[in-house]
Amino acid sequence: MRYDQARWTQDGDAERSQDDQYEPLLDEKHTDEVAVESPLPDELTRDSLELPDLSEPELARHYTRLSQMNYGVDSGPYPLGSCTMKYNPKFTEDVAALGDAAVHPARSDRSVQGTLGLLHGLQDYLARIGGMDAVSLQPPAGAAGEFTGILVARAYHEHHGEGDRRDEIIVPDSAHGTNFASAALGGYDVVELPSGEDGRVDLEALEAAASDRTALFMLTNPNTLGLFERDIEAIAEIIHNAGGLLYYDGANLNALLGRARPGDMGFDIMHYNVHKTFATPHGGGGPGAGPVGVTDELAEFLPAPRVREVGRDEGEGRGTDGVYELFDPEHTVGKVHGFEGNWLVLVKAYAYIARLGDDGLRDASAKAVLNANYLAERIEYEVPFEPFHHEFVASAGDQDAADVAKRMLDYGVHPPTTKWPEIVSEALMTEPTEIEGKDTLDQLADAFNRVLAEDDATIEDAPNRTTARRIDQTSAARDLRLSWQALDDE
Ligand SMILES: Cc1ncc(COP(=O)(O)O)c(C=O)c1O
Repeated sequence: MRYDQARWTQDGDAERSQDDQYEPLLDEKHTDEVAVESPLPDELTRDSLELPDLSEPELARHYTRLSQMNYGVDSGPYPLGSCTMKYNPKFTEDVAALGDAAVHPARSDRSVQGTLGLLHGLQDYLARIGGMDAVSLQPPAGAAGEFTGILVARAYHEHHGEGDRRDEIIVPDSAHGTNFASAALGGYDVVELPSGEDGRVDLEALEAAASDRTALFMLTNPNTLGLFERDIEAIAEIIHNAGGLLYYDGANLNALLGRARPGDMGFDIMHYNVHKTFATPHGGGGPGAGPVGVTDELAEFLPAPRVREVGRDEGEGRGTDGVYELFDPEHTVGKVHGFEGNWLVLVKAYAYIARLGDDGLRDASAKAVLNANYLAERIEYEVPFEPFHHEFVASAGDQDAADVAKRMLDYGVHPPTTKWPEIVSEALMTEPTEIEGKDTLDQLADAFNRVLAEDDATIEDAPNRTTARRIDQTSAARDLRLSWQALDDE
């Protein structure tokens, strides 16, 4: 398949104000009537909003063209390892768009029983899926879930008089950067644990690292190489014997759905990345959700509020409904987000789980693992660590993984995650997810294999068929231009 991404050039002026062309719809008198005195300080207010003045079709075309110059999971395969970029089923958008979904968060518990019932149902689904006893839906992303879990662990140790002594968090070297960052942000010393030769936790190294200073050990299972930590029970024992807690980074839960549960493996705290495992959209920074689950002994420290069922209501002609209320856990760490969290994202996660059910969730993990194994079998790059589950890390060998990634774009597929984890040289961390069929997996494999056969000059020059060529990635991430007004700065 030959791929060329759309290239629209837009006249900047045409996007901006067309004040000269149109008569204002509101006359001065009417405008005066709607003007409201602002209670905000002067430096935070402005007299006018400089919005582009466009008709609806112009605006729709503008965003459609922008989307055509972009790549997303709705355009093609997106095997970005560790990110689980699943297709977001559109029915969940429909559910989130239902009128009742937009209730005001300040309404009384009694008047939003449906909303609370859904949140309670999601707490329950997630607890059952993770083998946890209690769940908070508040954290707005996986990394925020990590940080919340760390706050909960600290509150637990403080409650048991060990807050000061337990000042270390152990993190494997293969872990995601957010684990290190969350631990440091929580005020802990981070102890980096080198992986064993098989890419898993080295039990001897863990024994040596665990002590009465250990507050928490953060682990992803399967880990970022896609390898299941088969010594997980021994790992849990080492940490628990040292008086520490075990944290499950849920980024790879898609590999285990409906088959194995972190709680049964000995984990005490976990987060769920609903935008990965439960197909709610990746928010590009938000809004997202990273609920946190814990075992019974930690439930009293979870963020407030949570939802509980306090009775049953004999509704006329509709059977017995639960009666729900918000409550603050006894020794809560407080709030980590407004209200009950990012409600509409949570609605989508609920809808996804309810639609798939037990069998669907089991099927998702089976296909995710099957697809990763099929793809790895078909590609000619070396895959040093096996047997993996839902993702694998290939090595680009003598090629630069970043060049491989850029060149894959020319073949109409999104590249894998590159250069991480560092224990694989020139890593290509690949996760096709369960959503892809055989034809797409073959297309992906062909893209990998074609790039492998190409010379350095060709791949260093890529991408050629995309709207944007090589960009300065650091500046692109740090110097964001998200507004049409940024055009003025050029
Ligand atoms: C292993 C792992 N842990 C944590 C995170 C952080 O999750 P989030 O992006 O939801 O903040 C990620 C994100 O990709 C991840 O891959």
